[in-house]
Amino acid sequence: AQQAATLEAQSKGLAALRERARACRACPLWEPATGTVFGEGPDDARIVVVGEQPGDQEDLLGRPFVGPAGQLFDRALGELGLDRRAWYVTNAVKHFKFEQRGKQRLHQRAAPDEQRACLPWLQGELAAIRAERIVCLGVTAAEAVLGRRVALLAERGQWHAAQDGTPALVTVHPAWVLRQRDGAAREAAFRGFVDDLALLAGQPV
Ligand code: URA
Repeated sequence: AQQAATLEAQSKGLAALRERARACRACPLWEPATGTVFGEGPDDARIVVVGEQPGDQEDLLGRPFVGPAGQLFDRALGELGLDRRAWYVTNAVKHFKFEQRGKQRLHQRAAPDEQRACLPWLQGELAAIRAERIVCLGVTAAEAVLGRRVALLAERGQWHAAQDGTPALVTVHPAWVLRQRDGAAREAAFRGFVDDLALLAGQPV
């Protein structure tokens, strides 16, 4: 399936892939979710950003990184004079996984087999776009892109080789920055996130 998605992406492009992903039933996550949240951005983007999976707002709006984590990501990029509108932004897993608690829907991490089931879509996107740089937000994204186990704290803030050799920057997930207990910890985490992303400055964007 993986190879089929890659071949299709190269021949027919992202639009066909997106259309097919709308009806994906490769794992059970499609059923409680509102819909597939596919990647978004130009198909000739020079940078691809990969997150973990859509959150509550992304699920409702059908677009990646439009909720609080996306806003924090924008603020970090803004400090560096960068703007993700010219980039392609996607996730390792394309459906929101949650636990219903009263009116709230609480994020749950996708299981390894759910992550694996979704991988052909990401690989298809990467094959169609062939970006110059990839940015991995968090360990789930990093492992999907690099195709191996990743020790996030040891490997963050560095370029690594994606499976096709494209340089991929690994950093923390913006939601992790938001989850820090108090203001000082959150500020320190934010500064570290900005420092990692600074490796993108000076890249051809
Ligand atoms: N977190 C992610 O990993 N991706 C999104 O699209 C939103 C929040």
